[in-house]
Amino acid sequence: MRSKLPNVGVTIFTEMSQLALAHHAINLGQGFPDYNPDALLMQCVSDAMLAGHNQYAPMAGVPTLREAVAEKVARLQGQEYDPGDEITITSGATEALASAMIALIHVGDEVILIDPSYDLYAPVVRLAGGITVRVPMTPPTARTKRFTIDWSALEAAIGPRTRMIVLNFPNNPTGTILGDGDLERLEKITQQHNVLLLSDEAYEHIVFDGEPHRSLASRPALADKTIVVSSFGKTFHATGWKIGYFCAPKALTAEIRKIHQFIVFSVPTPIQHGVAAYMRQHARLDQLPAFYQQKRDRLKAGLEGSAFRPLDSQGTFFLLVDTSALGNLKEKDLAQRLTIEHGVGTIPVSAFYEDPDDPSANHRLLRLCFAKQDQTLDRAVEALRAVRGVGA
Ligand SMILES: Cc1ncc(COP(=O)(O)O)c(C=O)c1O
Repeated sequence: MRSKLPNVGVTIFTEMSQLALAHHAINLGQGFPDYNPDALLMQCVSDAMLAGHNQYAPMAGVPTLREAVAEKVARLQGQEYDPGDEITITSGATEALASAMIALIHVGDEVILIDPSYDLYAPVVRLAGGITVRVPMTPPTARTKRFTIDWSALEAAIGPRTRMIVLNFPNNPTGTILGDGDLERLEKITQQHNVLLLSDEAYEHIVFDGEPHRSLASRPALADKTIVVSSFGKTFHATGWKIGYFCAPKALTAEIRKIHQFIVFSVPTPIQHGVAAYMRQHARLDQLPAFYQQKRDRLKAGLEGSAFRPLDSQGTFFLLVDTSALGNLKEKDLAQRLTIEHGVGTIPVSAFYEDPDDPSANHRLLRLCFAKQDQTLDRAVEALRAVRGVGA
């Protein structure tokens, strides 16, 4: 078979989840909650079904949901998007990202990815005929304790064929968020260079320590050239519903909708109506940072003084831990052994690089997902604290 993606197998998330299942391990690997969405949200979706919202939704999404997104983005980011032709409801952030890439990348276009980067980006860029250009983030040090963006390296990577830069902040896996200085740098760079920005803001509502989420939509000069993507699944503890959206200027939206309409046409109607009704409850959305900050702090405090040294997490529901105390194993080997020998599933950060086996991709870091019940976190902490070494 002549494969279009010869180097793509199952994702690391599937692989590690299967390993965790096979060894009855606590799964802090794949990014999904082990608790239900709010009962009110499930009630809203169920009500929508019983009210008869069960046939195809409009291609761009149910109008009330698009209006709810427009209101939310205006309230939180100060940017007005027209729900008619600038907001589209998609099958998760995944479909929004893929549709945007397929619609906007032409054969031979270069697309800049900031590594470590989410596993969808590179294969879909290639499917669209594009060429990836990788710019690594600066790894954490004892002082910084988090990955930071190397804006000079990013600007140096832009050339005449650069079509798009993909950004993902709050960042999976590093937990890094954008500061005001970052947005300023990006704005300057995009004034000099004619590029599109694809901003994966799947974790936009999970930002800690009183910081705001700084969306690329919050600056008109950036919003003009950006497709902002978000995920209701991540926001509402409902990853299995696969519902998200993107906001983009009219001309970009029109092109992306051409792909969206032939890949999925529209996404489940009762879920759209249910989410729209639920979004009238602003307070519930605004409680999300505190909810996840408590979980971050619980996991972090539990691991202090163990062989898994927590780094800083400014957003998302992921915490990176430094495993230098356990020796020099490749991150993936360590993650596998931890699952099999100690009953805790994690994700190696090296999986978010072009070549996970390359030494430059191995910083002795693992990603832990803390979107878990407190008791799950406590059991994982207990198991991890007992680890003194791995393997023979
Ligand atoms: C950075 C990032 N983007 C996109 C997605 C996909 O989101 P969705 O489940 O809404 O398709 C994920 C899910 O893990 C993610 O971590």
